[in-house]
Amino acid sequence: MRIIAARDYNHMSRQAANIISAQVLLKPNCVLGLATGSSPIGTYKQLIEWYNKGDIDFRQVKSVNLDEYVGLDYTSNQSYIYFMRSNFFDHINIDPANTNVPCGANPNAEEECERYDALIHSLGGIDLQLLGLGPNGHIGFNEPDDHFTKGTHKVALSDATIHANKRFFEREEDVPRFAYTMGICDIMQAERVVMVVSGESKAGIVREAFLGPVTPQVPASILQLHKNFTLVADAAALSQMSHTYD
Ligand code: GLP
Repeated sequence: MRIIAARDYNHMSRQAANIISAQVLLKPNCVLGLATGSSPIGTYKQLIEWYNKGDIDFRQVKSVNLDEYVGLDYTSNQSYIYFMRSNFFDHINIDPANTNVPCGANPNAEEECERYDALIHSLGGIDLQLLGLGPNGHIGFNEPDDHFTKGTHKVALSDATIHANKRFFEREEDVPRFAYTMGICDIMQAERVVMVVSGESKAGIVREAFLGPVTPQVPASILQLHKNFTLVADAAALSQMSHTYD
């Protein structure tokens, strides 16, 4: 794994955007795996800025998002499809038909998860997967567990995740209890994985995930075994593992 030590959130966002931009320049019809959360917002903003300057073209790009809350669809401003449109897709020239997010409105979990894995497969897999890091070490919505779940599946969100994500909802009761998420295997099969992490509140989990043992109790730890994984993190997030890079 490679660590890019950024000064702060903006610097982290530019570094990650540089990697994504290079991917799109080198392979204009690439498949980008995309993430939600506050961590990648700055990366999307930077990419939009470069798009507006004419430096990057998303016309042929295809995207697959990591996850979606079960029960929410594009009409809900808390859904991840809404997040992706408002923070990224609506501001660039990606073809909406080429963007994919699990369908939270489909109550048939088996059907939806099979559909999504088949879709990833039909696109030829993911060239670059962007990730954030949950406070409990989750990636996508792969929560701490006693085993790694392979493909797209329905997951019951942990209390820690419901608590962490309540900031986006009016009340904690409004946070959906279930989500559809790509599995660990989907993520590990991506050609390249880039994770953005910022802030002191993530320093402990960054240390656990990348200096600790590989364990499904800290799902992100599996990335230590990925052939092409880059952690782009700011100084605060790296503050508990500073001796391991430079
Ligand atoms: C959510 C998403 C994750 C994301 C995490 C961290 O739970 N499902 O994909 O990485 O939030 O969010 P943030 O970047 O806001 O800390």
